[in-house]
Amino acid sequence: MTDFSSRLIVWQKQHGRHDLPWQNTTDPYAIWVSEIMLQQTQVTAVIGYYSKFMQRFPTIAALADATQDEVLQHWSGLGYYSRARNLHNAAQTIMDEHGGVFPQDFATIQALPGIGRSTAAAIASFAFNQVQTILDGNVKRVLARHFAVEGWPGTPKIEKELWSLAESLLPKTEMVAYTQGLMDLGATLCSRSRPQCLNCPLLASCQAYRQQRVNQLPTPKPRKATPEKHTIMLILLQGDSVMLEKRPPSGIWGGLWSFPELEQGSDYTDIVQQRFGMSVCPQKALPELSHAFTHFKLHITPQPLQVNGPLAKTGEPGQVWLSIADALGAAIPTPVRKILQTLLIEGT
Ligand code: ADE
Repeated sequence: MTDFSSRLIVWQKQHGRHDLPWQNTTDPYAIWVSEIMLQQTQVTAVIGYYSKFMQRFPTIAALADATQDEVLQHWSGLGYYSRARNLHNAAQTIMDEHGGVFPQDFATIQALPGIGRSTAAAIASFAFNQVQTILDGNVKRVLARHFAVEGWPGTPKIEKELWSLAESLLPKTEMVAYTQGLMDLGATLCSRSRPQCLNCPLLASCQAYRQQRVNQLPTPKPRKATPEKHTIMLILLQGDSVMLEKRPPSGIWGGLWSFPELEQGSDYTDIVQQRFGMSVCPQKALPELSHAFTHFKLHITPQPLQVNGPLAKTGEPGQVWLSIADALGAAIPTPVRKILQTLLIEGT
């Protein structure tokens, strides 16, 4: 065993995390769900979602049998919704092609929708005690610092170098403590902006520390200005109901329920008449909301429109009229949740 891995394992056992809801199990399904939720998302944000998800979908079969809408409902607010769609699709693949049993073969795990190399390795280590290499964002930071690797880890060359380093460090046994130790160190002591080097088990061999470059490594991504987009969300109001539309299956918020949208600056009374066959009376716009995606920033103007005339509560396919309370329980993205909460507080 390398010095690196033995020190990390000893540290994990003493100082690492041992009581997260997805630890102390070898159920590959429970571990898989946790690893997907934890992609690009912090433990504190995941914990509440995880227990509700596992209560509602306790097995692969239960998840495969659910509708996509219900799966998205349990993901509403967590973001990166392709994770939920892939998880659901993969559960159906496991039922159809693997007899309902989570596969143990590494290549077969990695072939499932939404499971990349690092996630496959985390599942294989935790569930099956396999010797496999993880390399998520936190682990990249630990390695880039420990070995003073220059260059942004997102470039193929640096990423390849980090995978080789990670592979060379693997212990032959104790994969659970080792894998968890790497994650725990990256999430706690070796944090991006306030590393606690003096408590680190790897301090003695850390090249970044020796060179006093902990704050410069890993090399940050070359920054381009993030594009900004604008949209108007139409809040069609009828009695105490609002209209939601199901978004197309892929793309931003794919499969989620959201308000109809308009490009900036159009005359909405005419367009709403044409698109929905409704005569509407515009009300004062609600304050703008901004929502950050990975690749752009979206500025949203919520425009309430009172529908005139007789109540017609049936919508086209893919449209629903819901009370605000029911809408809050649907598979909706975060800005829609915020708008609904504003409507609830202000009264409509
Ligand atoms: N991040 C990714 N996987 C994790 C795990 N199993 N425990 C804590 N944080 C994680």
